[in-house]
Amino acid sequence: YSKIGIIGAMVEEIELLHKHVEKTSSFVKAGIEYTEGSLHGRQVVFCKSGVGKVNAAVCTQLLIDAGVDCVLFTGVAGAVSPSLNIGDIVISTSCLQHDMDVRPLGFARGQIPFQETWDFRAASDLVELAGSVSEHLFPGRTMKGKVLSGDQFIASRDVVRELYEELDGACTEMEGASLAQVCAMNGVPFVVIRSMSDKADGSAHVNFAEFTVQASINSHAIIEGMLQRL
Ligand code: ADE
Repeated sequence: YSKIGIIGAMVEEIELLHKHVEKTSSFVKAGIEYTEGSLHGRQVVFCKSGVGKVNAAVCTQLLIDAGVDCVLFTGVAGAVSPSLNIGDIVISTSCLQHDMDVRPLGFARGQIPFQETWDFRAASDLVELAGSVSEHLFPGRTMKGKVLSGDQFIASRDVVRELYEELDGACTEMEGASLAQVCAMNGVPFVVIRSMSDKADGSAHVNFAEFTVQASINSHAIIEGMLQRL
């Protein structure tokens, strides 16, 4: 990979990149600032997308238009798999939009009508690399699995159980599957890296406030490790 795109949704998720990059230039498009430079000897372009699927989709396309040949996402998520704890890591094997729901017309939950693919597969080389970096940094606390995305902050035990049982999610967040779909449309490899800030249950809002900074640091550490080995 000669130019690596990196997206985070919130300031906590992206500020560590700003701290370490040797910035060469920046540009603004669609109201978002993109920073270009060198990070651990690699050419990168990164931005803070803002929250949600539309923001992530626009940023992903603009990064691809700026010439990146892969896209990494760094950030936090709510745990869906019961075996995950706060701070643990999920590396996306695939990403699906859990709020895409056209079941009344006979489509499966999450299925984008008239499309063959809606569970977008991450690039296996990026998944392997992220997994080995993460297992090294956070032994026994790394899971590879399906990332579920929707324009919803999940904070209910019943909803999170349903996401696990019906859609086999590892974690839930608000951007990954949108980035994944745009990458698939462009034939660009991606992986989503998420550290758990909460368990998407009745305590999610409290845990999110308390643990987002640490979880963002965990996710960023994996990006750093990857850049050194990409
Ligand atoms: N990001 C972090 N925690 C989340 C949650 N519970 N739901 C959606 N996005 C999240």
